Amino acid sequence: MRGLTTKKMKVTIDNIPVEVEDGTTILQAARKIGGKVVPPAMCYYSKLKGSGGKCRTCLVKVSQGSAKDPRPMPKLVASCSTPVQDGMVVQNLTSPEVVEARKGIVEFLLLNHPLDCPVCDQAGECDLQDLSFGYGMEETATEDDRREFPMTDIGENIKLHMNRCILCYRCVYAADQLTDKRLHGVLYRGDVSEIGTFIRNAVTNEFSGNMIDVCPVGALTDKTFRFKSRVWFLKPMNAHRECARCAGKTVAWMFGNEIYRVTGRKDQFGEVEEFICNECRFEKKDAGDWVIEGPRHISRQSVISANHYEEMTEPSVIDPIAGKMEKDE
Ligand code: SF4
Ligand code: FES
Repeated sequence: MRGLTTKKMKVTIDNIPVEVEDGTTILQAARKIGGKVVPPAMCYYSKLKGSGGKCRTCLVKVSQGSAKDPRPMPKLVASCSTPVQDGMVVQNLTSPEVVEARKGIVEFLLLNHPLDCPVCDQAGECDLQDLSFGYGMEETATEDDRREFPMTDIGENIKLHMNRCILCYRCVYAADQLTDKRLHGVLYRGDVSEIGTFIRNAVTNEFSGNMIDVCPVGALTDKTFRFKSRVWFLKPMNAHRECARCAGKTVAWMFGNEIYRVTGRKDQFGEVEEFICNECRFEKKDAGDWVIEGPRHISRQSVISANHYEEMTEPSVIDPIAGKMEKDE
């Protein structure tokens, strides 16, 4: 309706102010600022309805609830599911309490996660690897045995390595929301919970491959790529093709002229921009199937950026006010 404006909320996160729409969560407000202010998210995925609230990696401190009620919130809150209030003051990295809590969360996430990064296909693009690098301890404080499961094939193209699963539920939401019929889920409860298909079903939906892209660890891997290469030896190229099922916009991971694997394109928060179909992902491995657009931008902090050359873009800009160099991410 003309003249109707949505109320803006002023929030401050790690001393940086930002204005967002009413109903925005703290995490989304932080993403609007970008950079180190953004709390890590292992279970929340903006494209999957209902996701979030499971892993607690996104905990932040609310040191002022709102302009009307400036009292701090009594406990750390999950930023992915807490909406902002006008005048709210939030601390992420500026709070030693948050950093300590996050170390504890990482320890919990690693409680059953094997240290098999040297042989895991997700290494180099694993959210848990990054999180452990930032907050992990050198030694474990527990002596208990890790949970162990046999490796299973869930369908023709996906391998489930349950030992690595952190039960974030992202793949369950992806299957629920992208495919006609979800064939897998979290079976059992408590410390015996596991991702599985009821009576060892095969997951065969046309969009099931997206479960691999949303998995933050190496629990779901692409069987057509397993053990073929390390991601940092490949060149991620933006590629597209005419596809009747999806937008056909992908990343072709190439070695020379060969395509080793095809994935969705991920944004700076590690989320797929547009979900792709199984045909594009698993069946189109010939360079002739694709229009190769050019190298993808890879953050220079990523191991994948080694020996990765991109076309020259705009040079770094000098911010005339702050007088500081805006660094390329
Ligand atoms: S298999 Fe991956 S996406 Fe699914 S619940 Fe486990 S960690 Fe999450
Ligand atoms: S990302 Fe917020 S609880 Fe997991």
